[in-house]
Amino acid sequence: MEIRPFLGADADPSELKQRYELYAEDRRSVFPGFPIQAYEQYVAAAAACPPSTVALSEGLPPVAPPLQWSAWQGERLIGSVGVSLVEEDGTLVAVPRIEVAADHRRRGVGTALLHRLVSAAQARGCTTLVADAVRIGSAGALWANRVGFRTTQIFSWQMLHIPDIEPARWQLRTPAGYRLERWTAATPEPLVAAFARARNAIADSPLGDTSLVHPTWTVERLRRVEAEIAADGDTWHCVVAMHERTGDVAAFTELLRDPVRPALSWQRDTAVVRAHRGLGLARTVKAAMLRWLSAEVPGLDRVVTSTAAENTAMRRVNEQVGYLPYAEIGMLEAAPAEIEAKLSIPGARRSQQRRPLLQHLADFEA
Ligand SMILES: CC(C)(COP(=O)(O)OP(=O)(O)OC[C@H]1O[C@@H](n2cnc3c(N)ncnc32)[C@H](O)[C@@H]1OP(=O)(O)O)[C@@H](O)C(=O)NCCC(=O)NCCS
Repeated sequence: MEIRPFLGADADPSELKQRYELYAEDRRSVFPGFPIQAYEQYVAAAAACPPSTVALSEGLPPVAPPLQWSAWQGERLIGSVGVSLVEEDGTLVAVPRIEVAADHRRRGVGTALLHRLVSAAQARGCTTLVADAVRIGSAGALWANRVGFRTTQIFSWQMLHIPDIEPARWQLRTPAGYRLERWTAATPEPLVAAFARARNAIADSPLGDTSLVHPTWTVERLRRVEAEIAADGDTWHCVVAMHERTGDVAAFTELLRDPVRPALSWQRDTAVVRAHRGLGLARTVKAAMLRWLSAEVPGLDRVVTSTAAENTAMRRVNEQVGYLPYAEIGMLEAAPAEIEAKLSIPGARRSQQRRPLLQHLADFEA
């Protein structure tokens, strides 16, 4: 096996095609029912990635190590890894994505790719790796736990099939003293301060053992997030319940639509401000969102939501508006040093016949 940097837009078309096939095969088997990116979209996303090595000028070495690699057996691509670096409030988090061809698993390929990634993440000053969508019980989860990731929180993914729901289910009366408002793209200026304040209610949702924290919402953050969503080409839908006496936003729900994946939409935050809980406002805003989308967004078939498994109140609200359970998903976390330590422990592999993992890797990387 040979591991080489993946050059994104500059990669050979056959490498792009093989990376896409690995991705698609994995998605189909681990996340059945989810639409898969079309090949053209996948290639466009790869091309849009900043180059993983940046040379200062010709002849000088790159200033940063690559962030994506492919593992090869001759002409055949047998594994791929990439990492997105996300900077959030001064903390640099690496979100890895790693795939190994089904017929080349359990031979150390995934772990060898992880080694490259961990070194690169460390070199970039990244202190935390977060794998945020690992299906509990999947090969990915079993492997990740073995190589040093901890499961910090479990989420329930619930899925709603719009054509299966009788629209009457979403015809709810708005509680007295409240009125609904809705918008896409940008929060109307008169509501922006109240909405930014209300968004902090999400901080009451459980975070498990993650080292990540809820951000503090301000008008500046809200406007920045709106701009990022627009720059990504997504459409952001928002529904809020206004408390008429005070002008406060009492509850909100938001959802994203990706134009390249029109049939599926991801639910984002939903929260009710503490003083307004217990009145059915979460269900009211979610039902209003579904009435709106089902009536006005042609081709939308499914909505997916991810809720902390322990958050029974939110899961129950989702069931009331028509969501069904889809899967239990883990958020996993590790410090690069923890992974290095785990992989360096001689004899840590399960079978006594096998060699320590680093030795195993060295054979592949030679
Ligand atoms: C996860 C994945 C990348 C692992 O790749 P791999 O090359 O098979 O992993 P390795 O050979 O390096 O495995 C190292 C150790 O992890 C553990 N492990 C790996 N896969 C496992 C599985 N299916 N069940 C139980 N343990 C497993 C084992 O302890 C293994 O050592 P062993 O084979 O000597 O027992 C691969 O299964 C895959 O592509 N899955 C789909 C995508 C995915 O889930 N990515 C990771 C998300 S975090």
